Amino acid sequence: MYEGRERIRYIDLFCGIGGFRVAFEEACSESDVVPVCVMSSDIDEFCKDSYELNFGERPKGDITKIDEMDVPDHDILFAGFPCQPFSIIGNMQGLNDIRGTLFFDIARILEAKKPKAFVLENVKQLVGHDKGNTLKIILQTLKDLGYTVQYKVLNALDFGLPQKRERVVIVGHRDPILFTFPSPIKPFRPLTEILEQEVGEKHFASDYIREKRKESHKSAFNPSIWHENKSGNICSYPYSCALRAGASYNYLLVNGERRLTPREMFRLQGFPDWYQIIENDGQARKQAGNSIPVSMIKAVLQKLLPYVALSLDEAVLLRDVEIQYNIA
Ligand SMILES: C[S@@+](CC[C@H](N)C(=O)[O-])C[C@H]1O[C@@H](n2cnc3c(N)ncnc32)[C@H](O)[C@@H]1O
Repeated sequence: MYEGRERIRYIDLFCGIGGFRVAFEEACSESDVVPVCVMSSDIDEFCKDSYELNFGERPKGDITKIDEMDVPDHDILFAGFPCQPFSIIGNMQGLNDIRGTLFFDIARILEAKKPKAFVLENVKQLVGHDKGNTLKIILQTLKDLGYTVQYKVLNALDFGLPQKRERVVIVGHRDPILFTFPSPIKPFRPLTEILEQEVGEKHFASDYIREKRKESHKSAFNPSIWHENKSGNICSYPYSCALRAGASYNYLLVNGERRLTPREMFRLQGFPDWYQIIENDGQARKQAGNSIPVSMIKAVLQKLLPYVALSLDEAVLLRDVEIQYNIA
């Protein structure tokens, strides 16, 4: 069935519920390329349940316990690594110094397996952390490993999703190709395409909360998602503020009345409706909040995919044509 079609092997690190995997599979299905996941890893058993339910394979566990020489050869590495490393990377320098951070585990696998490319994702705050020093160390470490590296803060709102979610995306490639980040695709989907028609009673906030919300705010939009910030101020928009794994229960309320359902949260992250959600609302909420905006990452992968699928000669030719005709 796949005869004659290019196969791209990838690994899915810190895979969570598979946001990168959905994005890459969608990007590949629109090209003549077959994606082959040769390894996935996550430490959270509930995430592994979701991943297995949807992709038929249970990710391996703790990445710090996986020897890089046991990682299968692959063309591209994906990692939406946790924010934990940058609180400790601070003043470190070089590969030896970052030992003990989860970013080190990405770096040691890149060093050992030398995939053609990688895509990393993290919270926007990584860019300004320690006055930019942390990101500088991360980028320098990746460059020292032989990669040309670029990064950009992207917003899910610019890629068709009604969620304001800014994330830094770092892309690296070994070959001298011309990767550019995708331009924004507007407009974003209306909330009416995201919200479910029939929503169970359990999702509604108490009368007290609803009344309090309505006393303090009147929305200019319908439907809208009401957001309560850290100081308790309420604002509302025709899109959602960023879903957060550990946020308070009523921090986002549809029309000031009810919480988002798991399916709505997954849709806000760009997961298609075929994606099966585990029957544990608390875990589903955490999983959606930790995941990535699928449509945004897909747009990045669509720009990278042609190069990863080509031989070096072909990639250089494509690069030269793009430069000549200014179409990158
Ligand atoms: C920001 S989330 C990434 C979510 C993912 N991109 C998705 O689409 O769901 C980071 C993930 O790293 C996982 N993680 C944290 N420490 C880990 C470790 N030592 N080994 C493997 N996974 C780990 C967490 O369980 C979490 O799912």
